[in-house]
Amino acid sequence: MQVLKHETILIREEAGVVEARQHARMLVRELGLGMTDQTKTVTAVSEIARNTLIYGGGGTATFEIVQDAARKCLRMTFHDSGPGIADLDKALTDGFTTGCGMGLGLGGAKRLVDDFELHSRPGEGTRVVLTKWKR
Ligand SMILES: Nc1ncnc2c1ncn2[C@@H]1O[C@H](COP(=O)(O)OP(=O)(O)O)[C@@H](O)[C@H]1O
Ligand SMILES: [Mg+2]
Repeated sequence: MQVLKHETILIREEAGVVEARQHARMLVRELGLGMTDQTKTVTAVSEIARNTLIYGGGGTATFEIVQDAARKCLRMTFHDSGPGIADLDKALTDGFTTGCGMGLGLGGAKRLVDDFELHSRPGEGTRVVLTKWKR
């Protein structure tokens, strides 16, 4: 595994969410994903970046293009030092929200990418890693 590109975006306000989405759009094109996969990836980024801002109180989005032996992927890591999540399964359940969203962000994002990791503990912040492979 070789990291070909690495960039971090600060998410401190809505503009950071927009920037993360634009950055994702640029990289999925660069990676050569089809239109459907581009849209899926950008939608997932939009959801998770917004969670980082709203629930995490802001944080970072790191975008990496990673080269495997045979193929490339886009790895997107969202990190915040907010309150964290007590019950991960519950948070991933469609319709569950502690805010005023629709509770579809985490579960939706998970379905839109190839690999989804959610690491969080109360008081320790939250880290979400999304991976999308170029087939
Ligand atoms: N970064 C985060 N920090 C703390 N809690 C989070 C974070 N992301 C998600 N959550 C929790 O998971 C719940 C579900 O998130 P999500 O599926 O995106 O739905 P919604 O954003 O509509 O609430 C949120 O309501 C919140 O309680
Ligand atoms: Mg959400």
